[in-house]
Amino acid sequence: MSAVVQGKIALVTGATSGIGQETAIGLAKQGIQVIITGRNRERGGVAVTEIQHASGNPNIEFVSADMASQASVHSLADHVMAKYPRLDILINNAGVMAADHQLSEDGIEIHFAINHLAPFLLTHRLLPLLRHSAPTRVVNVTGGMPGKIDLNNLQAEQGPYIGFIAYSHSKSVMMAASYELAQRLNGTDVTVNVAYPGGVMSTKMGSQPILVPLWMRPIFGVVRRALNTTAEKAARSSIYLASAPEMEGKTGLYLNTHSRRVGWPKSSYDQAIRAKIWEVSERLIQLKPQPI
Ligand SMILES: NC(=O)c1ccc[n+]([C@@H]2O[C@H](COP(=O)([O-])OP(=O)(O)OC[C@H]3O[C@@H](n4cnc5c(N)ncnc54)[C@H](OP(=O)(O)O)[C@@H]3O)[C@@H](O)[C@H]2O)c1
Repeated sequence: MSAVVQGKIALVTGATSGIGQETAIGLAKQGIQVIITGRNRERGGVAVTEIQHASGNPNIEFVSADMASQASVHSLADHVMAKYPRLDILINNAGVMAADHQLSEDGIEIHFAINHLAPFLLTHRLLPLLRHSAPTRVVNVTGGMPGKIDLNNLQAEQGPYIGFIAYSHSKSVMMAASYELAQRLNGTDVTVNVAYPGGVMSTKMGSQPILVPLWMRPIFGVVRRALNTTAEKAARSSIYLASAPEMEGKTGLYLNTHSRRVGWPKSSYDQAIRAKIWEVSERLIQLKPQPI
């Protein structure tokens, strides 16, 4: 067990399988106590045992939380705030890619709700604990092909619905909000960075059919197979951002699957876009503007 990280506590959302589980194992191997989340207690129990076995670290706890429900995200935050004296690492890893246009429990488009609003809400709720425990790190996990943001179509209401496009768009929004949060928290010793894990066809999400129009499927299939990696390798960029000593104090970074620093999508650098996303997000989670 590393002396550097002894006593540290991490929360990894969506860690009952795939990249999140490997991320939890990577942190647990360093002696970090890890709280993992998912929707299903049975899957959670199995994941806890697997993470304990793989890491040799018994300090793993499962908390049930559905990221498609703001009430559930609040309950998770309440639980963590009440039970743990500190929180050193928050990894917003849980994500979804849906074939059809679906709404969350709160009536919000499912990608926007789970991939952007849930981490936005959870991070805001946990900020007091993160600030109290500083220096601390928030890592948000992106995916798809993040790029342009259409402020008039944040919930994929317009045009033909294409799962991969809605997914990528929600990740772009999450990235712009992450960049904004990093700026707002600058100087507080709470860092905010984004990790791109890379394509993993063996996870539940990665083994889904490609959610693009029929004519695009052959080319996407080729690219997907060529870039395919393992969940263990895909977890490295999150683990690195969350725990590498050289990342201490580094904020506002976007790392690729090889843990190398790359440029953010242009939309993340656009202050007007970030301001609008912030305003819409605060309204949708009914959170009073926070003095950060
Ligand atoms: N796989 C890829 O090719 C790929 C590529 C780039 C980025 N990513 C990103 O990497 C992250 C992990 O992906 P993965 O491939 O490891 O996915 P995965 O194997 O499908 O795992 C997703 C995790 O999120 C949890 N989850 C799903 N929906 C949830 C909800 N509504 N509320 C709470 N938890 C929920 C799942 O737990 P339960 O089902 O137990 O609730 C599971 O632990 C995602 O953010 C994804 O966008 C993946």
